[in-house]
Amino acid sequence: MLFEEYQYFQYQFPEPQYLGAKHTLLPWINQFIPKNTKIALDAFAGSQSVGYLFKQLGYKVITNDFLNFNNQIGKALIENSDIKLEKDDLQLLFQPSNNKDKFKLIEEIFTNVFFEREEAEFLDNFRANIPLLDSDYKQALAFTVINRSMTRKITMGHFGHTQALVYANDPERVKRNRSLIRPIKEIFEELLPKYNNAIFDNKQDNQSYNLNILALLPNIENVDLAYFDPPYCDSHADYQGFYHLLETYTEYWKEKDFVNGIKRYEPQRFSGFDKKRDVISSFEKLFELSENIPNWLISYNNRSYPGIEEFEKLISKYRNVKIETKTYQNGRGGKGSVAGSQEILFVCSPKKKHSVGAPIVSNNHKEQSVNEGHISYEIIEKMKDRNDPFCMDVLTTLKNEKLQILKEVQENPKTLATWLYENQGEMRFGSENRLFLVLVDTDDFGNSWKLKRNLDLLKPAILNYLDNFKNKKIDDLQVNFEFKGKPQPFTALTDIIFVVK
Ligand SMILES: C[S@@+](CC[C@H](N)C(=O)[O-])C[C@H]1O[C@@H](n2cnc3c(N)ncnc32)[C@H](O)[C@@H]1O
Repeated sequence: MLFEEYQYFQYQFPEPQYLGAKHTLLPWINQFIPKNTKIALDAFAGSQSVGYLFKQLGYKVITNDFLNFNNQIGKALIENSDIKLEKDDLQLLFQPSNNKDKFKLIEEIFTNVFFEREEAEFLDNFRANIPLLDSDYKQALAFTVINRSMTRKITMGHFGHTQALVYANDPERVKRNRSLIRPIKEIFEELLPKYNNAIFDNKQDNQSYNLNILALLPNIENVDLAYFDPPYCDSHADYQGFYHLLETYTEYWKEKDFVNGIKRYEPQRFSGFDKKRDVISSFEKLFELSENIPNWLISYNNRSYPGIEEFEKLISKYRNVKIETKTYQNGRGGKGSVAGSQEILFVCSPKKKHSVGAPIVSNNHKEQSVNEGHISYEIIEKMKDRNDPFCMDVLTTLKNEKLQILKEVQENPKTLATWLYENQGEMRFGSENRLFLVLVDTDDFGNSWKLKRNLDLLKPAILNYLDNFKNKKIDDLQVNFEFKGKPQPFTALTDIIFVVK
């Protein structure tokens, strides 16, 4: 078909109102997308504007944001290929709920903060009815449109201030923006057709995730292009401060505190990209974990930390990099953009050849381990952050347990080798003889992966192992193992070189 590339461009992404959203920059970004892309990742997807562009381009899209209200947009507009909200669904969503007693959070916490009581009650009632919709995609669409309706109604479209009701009573402001006084139900009904009409099938198995990107990356494969649009550290990076209400509404938190005038939930999720103290090591980890993705596009701003030159140096360790810039004439661009600030795109290509193309590994077992890794990562980072005697005690206990496990597997490497064979990914399954290299940083177990660059440490350990290999007995190297879904038992010769710092 002629112009096949543009066949999905008849669909329109509904205009978002989200700090740093790239919907106005899509034609500019599109110029730098490598044309042989088949599978694309939108790693910090926010409003999902770039993920939606990837879908329009016909790619298989993996989209992700660590905030669930953004993931709901991904499910509704990117993963979903054909399910819309119909008239019957609206009746169900607007009907008086039988479950009112359990759904009072918005009324109790946010009345007179962002809404009058009646609007807060409407939101609770609607929220109580969402689970009655018989499809996850309908539910995702209901969250997407009601959340967008809330940003329409509140001045400046975010919840990081307490002026909503003051402005809604200011005739001058209302004259400029009538949504401030319109009922949310009316705004919802106006927006819904735009969202229904944006749903389409690009004939790919697209996926939306709700994970810290550092937990997702080890579990996806064969991605050709990663788009990274992280928070701009030091400049409007606190997405949970600005959009806490949408996350609270989606998650309907039961066990959080609601703090400050804006009633932001506490504790927050751990980002790793929003605070100066974390951001460099998070980027290093991001880039290490993206080693197998050949092309990267990274959005940035000249007012962020680290500065452009330092950031370029960091990226250059992994990729060839070209810098593209676009200067804002007014303040309506990316994150916290102001007139004269520059939107930057690092266009990164591989230093060596990578292969492209095969499908992604995904199964329940894998998803479960992604989630476990994600939860444990978040808990440990939070505890390090908190640094009080209780947390330090827990971290010390965890460290001692890990040291004990390390001691046991060093004394009996077969137990770990068997585990490694039995827990390998299904798509990469192999029963051939293997020599494993296990790297352990006993000061910081979570960052042990960084040792793989430490040749001064690796080389002597490997040479020492090889020099003494002649003393090994073959019987000591034999393991027997099973693999789920395969009827026969397996036997292999294997050993482990431990590199411990
Ligand atoms: C600049 S915004 C992305 C804007 C997006 N490109 C758009 O067009 O709307 C950055 C996003 O990163 C998300 N985020 C922050 N830390 C994250 C993490 N560790 N993993 C995944 N997402 C994260 C935030 O929730 C926010 O939505």
